[in-house]
Amino acid sequence: MKKILTAYFSHSGENYFSGKIIKIEEGNTAIVAKKIAAMTGCDLFEIKRAEPYPEKYTDCVKESREELKADARPKLSEYKDVSGYDVVILGYPNWCGTMPMPVFAFLESTNFDGKKIFPLCTNEGSGLARSVDDIKKLCPNADVCEGLSVKGSQAKESDDTVREWLKKSALL
Ligand SMILES: Cc1cc2nc3c(=O)[nH]c(=O)nc-3n(C[C@H](O)[C@H](O)[C@H](O)COP(=O)(O)O)c2cc1C
Repeated sequence: MKKILTAYFSHSGENYFSGKIIKIEEGNTAIVAKKIAAMTGCDLFEIKRAEPYPEKYTDCVKESREELKADARPKLSEYKDVSGYDVVILGYPNWCGTMPMPVFAFLESTNFDGKKIFPLCTNEGSGLARSVDDIKKLCPNADVCEGLSVKGSQAKESDDTVREWLKKSALL
């Protein structure tokens, strides 16, 4: 049996949702990550920046752009050693064409050599964009497998798509 970890970053608070800004209690990526855990029985780890991002959408976008430009590695509230896992499903929202910088910090904080990484990206239309190339650069000795893009506003209805991807990836 493969030992699977789903590690995800997700932002609750205000978000851009099908053309308008609304407040959400649980982030889209968290919703999908929890579905994966329920389907596979895998372990779950939430990647969190030590200092939370602003709730307000426009402030969060501004701060994320600054971090991206600075190629920052923000401090995380908790770190996770992945040595006990064969497979890591890596969940994140598309922020400005790639992963939020705390996900970069997580990927650099532990050793992914020989692990399979399955990217799972929620977004409002840009898909996985540059994120897969960035994961490959950060984890050159990992096997970065075919990822899944889920439209964030359809996260709650994504069961069938997620199950199909897990089956195709031999994770179910
Ligand atoms: C700071 C920020 C930047 C974003 N940039 C993009 C983007 O470049 N392309 C895109 O399709 N969606 C973008 N989005 C939308 C999110 O990717 C989408 O709503 C995602 O499902 C949010 O996941 P979460 O609720 O788990 O954080 C952005 C959202 C935020 C807050």
